[in-house]
Amino acid sequence: MTSQKNSKDNLYKIVVNDLDDLYSYIDDLMSTIPQPVYVVNPAGVIIDANIALLRITGLPLDDVIGAEQSILFGEQKIAARINRETLGKGAINGRQLLLKNCKGKEIPVCLYSRTRSGEPGDSSYVVTLMDITERRKAEDKARRSTRKLLNAMENTIEAMVLMTEMRDPYTAGHQRRVAKLACAMAGQMGFSSDRINGLRLSCLIHDIGKIQVPAEILTNPNKLSLAEFEMIKMHPLVGYEILKNIKLPWPISTIVLQHHEREDGSGYPDGIKGDKILLDSKILAVADVVEAMASHRPYRPALGVDKAISEISTNRGTLYYPSAVDACVSLFADKSFQFD
Ligand SMILES: [Fe+2]
Repeated sequence: MTSQKNSKDNLYKIVVNDLDDLYSYIDDLMSTIPQPVYVVNPAGVIIDANIALLRITGLPLDDVIGAEQSILFGEQKIAARINRETLGKGAINGRQLLLKNCKGKEIPVCLYSRTRSGEPGDSSYVVTLMDITERRKAEDKARRSTRKLLNAMENTIEAMVLMTEMRDPYTAGHQRRVAKLACAMAGQMGFSSDRINGLRLSCLIHDIGKIQVPAEILTNPNKLSLAEFEMIKMHPLVGYEILKNIKLPWPISTIVLQHHEREDGSGYPDGIKGDKILLDSKILAVADVVEAMASHRPYRPALGVDKAISEISTNRGTLYYPSAVDACVSLFADKSFQFD
């Protein structure tokens, strides 16, 4: 600390001759800094500002000095918050805000503040703003291209859905109806809209693996042989293999892989249980069973929603995840959901 003070003393001896010279030295420093910088007293009034702040706001120095900080942000409560937090904590280390210039244009900035000592207390403090307009533009661009890429992926998935549905008319629409129910359940369970979107895509494509099952088996109105049933049981794994290389921000291939797994390990293909199964797969599983029972199948007429609800309620906790069952039951109980 002492050596730091000595070196500062030496510096001032070299560059500053007297007090006036010190003021001009500080002015030089302030005007050289490309970022807007200003100083605020404990009452929240601006007592100094550099040329970069005048440039970004378009305000004359006389309007800025002596004004409350709200002149920069257009809102009293933002200025009060900066004051309160800086004095209370000693600093703000990066806060994204909108600066308003003299024409009312909003400029995104990142604000850093620090009291003279860097400690909490009633002192004046220095504020530095960083114009992040370019960074915001770059982030928006990145977001737009990610969205474009996702749309392309979603369109690919939609095309795959159509392909499977055209080949297998009996389950045409099954995946769409499962998606509708699963998304309603996930909404009930508090999923974010982003996660619901991932679940929706998983549901839309969950039976893609049936593409490897001969169409005459899928549309066979009679009871399937053991060998035929074994072939159908491969479809989650085949679906996983088809989807595993599609790069999406959700674990779609794993959700599809696990959609016939059951809580007690009695499902397929891996017989995993409980926490080993993704929550998304557990929701899909319940929606899948309910939709399948409620609809007509090549080998039987529709059993109806009541039978389906009774099936998931009876096996709540053994085969099906309790919260998913509860969400599904309540959707039908209060009539807030119906298949198309
Ligand atoms: Fe399936």
